[in-house]
Amino acid sequence: MRRLCMGICLLLLFLATKAVAQSSVVAATPPMGWNSWNHFAGKIDDATVRAQSDAMVSSGMRDAGYVYINIDDTWQAERDAQGVIHANSRFPDMRALADYVHSNGLKLGIYSSPGPKTCAGFAGSYGHEEQDAQTYAAWGVDYLKYDLCSFGKIMEGAGSPEAAHKLMLDAYTKMQKALAKTGRPMVYSLCQYGADAVWRWGASVGGNSWRTTGDISDKYSSMTLIGFGQAGLAKFAGPGHWNDPDMLEVGNGGMNLEEYRTHMSLWALLAAPLLAGNDLSTMKPETIALLTNREVIAIDQDPLGKQAERLWAEGTQEIWARPLADASNAVGIFNRFDWPQDIAFSFSEIGFKGGVKARDIWAAKDLGTLPNRYKVRVPSHGVVLLRVSE
Ligand code: GLA
Repeated sequence: MRRLCMGICLLLLFLATKAVAQSSVVAATPPMGWNSWNHFAGKIDDATVRAQSDAMVSSGMRDAGYVYINIDDTWQAERDAQGVIHANSRFPDMRALADYVHSNGLKLGIYSSPGPKTCAGFAGSYGHEEQDAQTYAAWGVDYLKYDLCSFGKIMEGAGSPEAAHKLMLDAYTKMQKALAKTGRPMVYSLCQYGADAVWRWGASVGGNSWRTTGDISDKYSSMTLIGFGQAGLAKFAGPGHWNDPDMLEVGNGGMNLEEYRTHMSLWALLAAPLLAGNDLSTMKPETIALLTNREVIAIDQDPLGKQAERLWAEGTQEIWARPLADASNAVGIFNRFDWPQDIAFSFSEIGFKGGVKARDIWAAKDLGTLPNRYKVRVPSHGVVLLRVSE
């Protein structure tokens, strides 16, 4: 009996490891790329996507680690008599578009919903999951954002919250299986706005990332409500499966430089997918500098894959930190107040033995050894991002 259990247990362990390993292949570190929604919303077409793909290369973003060019909602036409989904006239040839993006050394992402309609009212994948997965694979798609949208209506008819929850999990699992069946590796990005504590089950339905929040907008209030609201979620993220606090707004114009620096720093600390949401073809040098800062990206992409937690907070002052693979730590000292502030704390209060060796990441400057008791001036809505070691 015991021997039988040992055999079965070993088999289960093997299968579990295999499942995790499969999903880790495509998102061993948080996915990096661009998505059409935040800037273009419904005004997206083939020419714009090609231009974004070109700009990702010419701006240096590709060389800094950005990979995915993701088309969000509004690309769909109706299904044909066989139920096959087609792109609308703004995307005359998806396969050719994928080839173009691939020829730039990048990958293509697409968007759908488990419901009959997407959030913008276009055709969703409900009842056509396998067909759609096959279509995406035939086009050469490498990433799917799967957005709950009208599936919420189906869940309302489930009869109980438990039954609704199960319907949602089944719907996400169904598409994961359909994607796996194509044999083409695709990042599977769940989007259901953080409902039902998705971080607790997102990985079990095969998600490589899951949105933890509602939609971001290009305002400091929205970005910080989301970013600083991620406390407690670090333990659910890791290689292959990431918390996703939504796409970047950097460069869209609604925040100032300090605020966008906070946005990038916080997302990097949170091991968040870095999906630029601006128009890459018209970027100011300061936007390129924010998006391509190698040391900030290295924090986001750190192979240990440990997300930051909030270690210290006093009113509008917060410190978040994440351990990195080389045994150093990334530490973000944030000022959420409307004026500059001195932030004073002790490194021993946030888990260090005492003074630390530090580098100021945005200033690109080694600071030498800092004393245990430390005070730093932080701009309004700004951050001092350090990489420290004992
Ligand atoms: C939802 C998602 C957004 C975007 C839109 C598209 O609101 O959360 O990120 O994909 O749908 O309609």
